[in-house]
Amino acid sequence: MQQADSLLNATQLSKSFGGIKAVNNAHIRVDRGSITGLIGPNGAGKTTLFNLLSNFIRPDSGSILFDNQPIHSLPPHKIAERGFIRTFQVARVLSRLSVLENMLLATPNQTGENFFKVWFQQGKLRSEERANKERAMSILESVGLSAKAYDYAGALSGGQRKLLEMARTLMTNPKLILLDEPAAGVNPTLINQICEHILDWNQQGISFLVIEHNMDVIMSLCDRVWVLAEGTNLAEGTPAEIQNNNEVLEAYLGQ
Ligand SMILES: Nc1ncnc2c1ncn2[C@@H]1O[C@H](COP(=O)(O)OP(=O)(O)OP(=O)(O)O)[C@@H](O)[C@H]1O
Ligand SMILES: [Mg+2]
Repeated sequence: MQQADSLLNATQLSKSFGGIKAVNNAHIRVDRGSITGLIGPNGAGKTTLFNLLSNFIRPDSGSILFDNQPIHSLPPHKIAERGFIRTFQVARVLSRLSVLENMLLATPNQTGENFFKVWFQQGKLRSEERANKERAMSILESVGLSAKAYDYAGALSGGQRKLLEMARTLMTNPKLILLDEPAAGVNPTLINQICEHILDWNQQGISFLVIEHNMDVIMSLCDRVWVLAEGTNLAEGTPAEIQNNNEVLEAYLGQ
């Protein structure tokens, strides 16, 4: 039953860098419709696991099913087209482009990418561009960034950049969004807003896998939490179960 409900199911994932086993036979599952947390001490392998799941780096071994299909042979942009997209620990926005342009760059399947279509379907291109722009503006409006649409993305605060990176993922009609530390370096007011947005998007049917060191964020958002330590699974359970797990506490104290 649980297997049938899983949107992402990765098993036996491993990745070494030289002598370091950054991820060592790890597994993780994200149930459809859930907000799933991924926690663990610094250097536990969380970001590496994200890189493996989204195929930004190739695993040494392991299997990844997204929406019941294997995705390990697909490049990241093809994975994104299937509705699986991630953000980065340090937000990757293009500073010298406007906030709106950053949003539009994420639009999938643009007719303008194809030379012949540009020549023969100019009308379609213009209406597509208009629709994309309207969509981008409405997403920016919903996260409170519409007043900054024509500002350089580089002029945003660190927290606003994270928000823009998250808002941008919505342009791709995602089913699953991986967030790498959405609250890191963000002021408390904006953290609350970011959490509200994540809950709101989840209500609209988007599932999430969230890496976060801020336990209040994990506790308030997540249905289930997976714990990684030294590249390996340490525990999995509800936030309350994880909070009361002595092994997890020891892993954090020992870091
Ligand atoms: N490209 C790389 N080359 C070499 N070693 C790497 C590389 N990426 C990660 N590592 C190592 O792999 C281990 C896991 O790192 P990773 O960044 O995945 O941890 P993390 O759990 O995300 O930590 P943090 O909470 O600090 O972000 C660390 O020992 C790290 O130094
Ligand atoms: Mg990390």
